[in-house]
Amino acid sequence: SVTPSPEDRFSFGLWTVGWAARDQFGTASRPDLDPLESVRKLAELGAWGFTFHDNDLIPFDASEAERERLVGRLKQTIDETGMVCEMVTTDTFAEPIFKDGAFTSNDRRVRRYGLRKVLRNVDLAAELGATTFVMWGGREGTEYDSSKDLYAALDRYAEGIDTVAGYIKSQGYDMRIGLEPKPNEPRGNIFLPTIGHALAFIDRLDNGDVVGVNPETGHEQMATLNYTHGLAEALWCDKLFHIDLNGQNGPMYDQDLVFGHGNLISAFFTVDLLENGFPSKPGAYQGARHFDYKPSRTEHLDGVWDSAAANMQMYLLLKQRAVAFRQDPEVQEAMAQSGILELAEPTLAEGEDLAAFLADRTAYEDLDLTGPSERNYGFVRLHQLAVEHLMGAR
Ligand code: GCO
Ligand code: MN
Ligand code: MN
Ligand code: MN
Repeated sequence: SVTPSPEDRFSFGLWTVGWAARDQFGTASRPDLDPLESVRKLAELGAWGFTFHDNDLIPFDASEAERERLVGRLKQTIDETGMVCEMVTTDTFAEPIFKDGAFTSNDRRVRRYGLRKVLRNVDLAAELGATTFVMWGGREGTEYDSSKDLYAALDRYAEGIDTVAGYIKSQGYDMRIGLEPKPNEPRGNIFLPTIGHALAFIDRLDNGDVVGVNPETGHEQMATLNYTHGLAEALWCDKLFHIDLNGQNGPMYDQDLVFGHGNLISAFFTVDLLENGFPSKPGAYQGARHFDYKPSRTEHLDGVWDSAAANMQMYLLLKQRAVAFRQDPEVQEAMAQSGILELAEPTLAEGEDLAAFLADRTAYEDLDLTGPSERNYGFVRLHQLAVEHLMGAR
């Protein structure tokens, strides 16, 4: 069915529908929304969960009493709606103090302040039952290569993430960190610009066992990378802890379109991977289907909710088509022709050691190159079948 329900595990950032469309060039084109109203509205639309930055709910300069009151109201809304607060994240980018980053600011006072803000928010996340804590370092970066000791910046970034991860472990929280890569915007160059950079960084951490990635569709595509390939590598590393789905049309500013409203063919293969798994390793992704998009500035309130619904609708339509694609006997035959299933067979035979491999003349000296050279892989035919399924032509 293409009617969203909580079983689909759709979730939205409160900053997505809540964006009043203030941008670099203009003032808000919509009124600010009450975040608690948004939670209710998303529940009505069939979402399962929501996510938020501390300051989406609690103003930056709120008093302790105000903070407690707002958290109390949120808990009440959670109880009333049954919505799950699946992820919490920290705003370490909006205020002037963070203009040179939080964990990688040249100013140590800022680094200590930023770390305290994040740790405090980890406690809030645990209190609300969130199991993922996203860290998007939007201001961690530079405009000028002269402005930063890049080695020290990576050291300080690692120190910060390790401290947060160590804190989560020491408190016994059932929570994992998802680092969110982005190549640029708002900084000219952001640290950990891609999924690959983040995975290599995580490998160097002391507490990297509870740290993974939260890749966003548009962010990889801004860097001209293939989002589905990035998800695949994160899955291969057991590090796909969370996802931010949206739409983007190639390398330009961060568009944050509705999922599927950018590169649709790529979105199809993203859903194919998330729902069907790899051909050699079937099975659906277990995490939240989280949308991080923005209702376009041209839209008013109806457009906010229409666009929220459109994300879920697009996902379910793509799921329907991706499942039909994989089940189609003609596709299965084409996949076999293309050797898709052959790739899962190890290149060396079981028990074959290097000496035996080097002694196998059929692998090299005696191999007739004509066969493999003239093989017709049939990838175009297979892709045509995929696109026909995507278009509903099958
Ligand atoms: C962006 C980012 C953010 C983060 C959010 C959660 O480009 O602005 O995608 O929306 O996902 O701050 O940490
Ligand atoms: Mn983004
Ligand atoms: Mn984006
Ligand atoms: Mn995001």
